Amino acid sequence: MTSSNTAILGLQWGDEGKGKIVNFLAGDFGAACRYQGGHNAGHTLIIDGKKIVLHLLPSSICHEDSLSLIGKGVVISYEALFSEIDEISNVTSGITDRLKISPACVLIQPYHQLIDLYKEKSNSQKTIGTTLRGIGPAYEDKVARRAIRVVDTLNENQLKPLLEETLDFYNFTIEKFFGKDALSLNSLMDENLAYGEKIKPMLADVSMLIKKINSEEKSVLFEGAQGALLDIDQGTYPFVTSSNCSPSGIAAGAGCGPLDVGNILGVVKAYVTRVGEGPMPTEIYDEVGEYIAKTGGEVGATTGRPRRCGWFDAVLMKRIIQTNSISGLCLTKIDVLDGLDEIKICKAYHESVDSVFGECMNLDNVKPIYEVLSGWKSPTKNLTKYEELPTETKDFISFIEDICEVPVKIISTGPDDQSTIIR
Ligand code: GDP
Ligand code: IMO
Ligand code: MG
Repeated sequence: MTSSNTAILGLQWGDEGKGKIVNFLAGDFGAACRYQGGHNAGHTLIIDGKKIVLHLLPSSICHEDSLSLIGKGVVISYEALFSEIDEISNVTSGITDRLKISPACVLIQPYHQLIDLYKEKSNSQKTIGTTLRGIGPAYEDKVARRAIRVVDTLNENQLKPLLEETLDFYNFTIEKFFGKDALSLNSLMDENLAYGEKIKPMLADVSMLIKKINSEEKSVLFEGAQGALLDIDQGTYPFVTSSNCSPSGIAAGAGCGPLDVGNILGVVKAYVTRVGEGPMPTEIYDEVGEYIAKTGGEVGATTGRPRRCGWFDAVLMKRIIQTNSISGLCLTKIDVLDGLDEIKICKAYHESVDSVFGECMNLDNVKPIYEVLSGWKSPTKNLTKYEELPTETKDFISFIEDICEVPVKIISTGPDDQSTIIR
């Protein structure tokens, strides 16, 4: 049986517009599935003119005829999940009927958030600029094989020894290093068991559900969070998130076979942004950067932090595309470049791209070489047909296609669904 499952994931440092694209496509799929990350994500949808920001729920959630799946690679904060369900229930009904969650998901507990905060604020540790959601510490517990998973919160006898052991470990740190009161076993037990009861009706074997959906001749859309340059293995380590947000994370995190992933479309902005610390070779420090940040509304959807802006980095994109089986691009936010006299694309670095740079993404000292393209004289905002795009915009798109060696299949000209061009 063949399926045309499709993955939509970011290729830059996140916030490429994945949410918009997934919501736009989801009606044609049986389900969309989040497979990694947690509520560090902020995916913005505009539905009937109303802005919705999703953190944990898949961006298909407003499609009443599609399922929304959360695979076992996602780390879940119960508090964040249920407050998001409550909030989004004001926009769409029946969420809990079509949301299916793997019982194997690792839980983010209050101590993970404390540790994240402590590490970020401590003078002795490197600041990453995390979202302070406890993502890294929760994944640390997963690989250390001491994590508490959703399944553990369904049974008091199973949960108690696990939580006792984990709290022993964390309370030592909390008391000794933070000088704070230890967390109470009883209240954490009560909280987790209450949430366990609440999540029970939504639990499902997501791996088998994907198989079932495909066997019914429907396809699954895999929705990445963050972006390939924030991937723990492929990104700009250590300034990355703690999961595999590139395609290699899909099979493991959704629970399907690698050959079931299907087409892989990378979402890229017509420029780049980054939130938090870490190298960004094409960062713009002048008023053009400020113009792009302002016009693009480049403020973090999760933390409200300003996003750093830079020119499109085709060197990094080419590498990521080549090493991730990317078959096409969704190019977003071209309208943000409307009105600029010239637009730059980084086509090479002054330094040679050797094995050390490549494998380790060692970008600290690289200097970009730019191709300077003419800006377009008429606006692209809200255009819906490729033929309507100005010649200079088409040249910009062709330049990206030539250097990245993949076609641009979807072009986004505004935040709402209508402002989308399919080629
Ligand atoms: P995600 O994390 O990849 O889903 O992206 P975010 O939602 O964090 O950030 C993308 C922002 O750009 C959101 O505010 C979107 O509404 C907006 N957006 C998406 N596509 C476009 C576009 O083509 N043009 C403009 N102007 N805004 C867009
Ligand atoms: P979406 O899905 C942009 C960044 C943080 C920080 C680093 C590690 O909306 O694209 P973490 O809290 O994950 O340990 O932080 O990763 N980061 C994101 N940046 N978009 C995101 O998600 C991000 N999720 C995490 O800013 O630099
Ligand atoms: Mg985002």
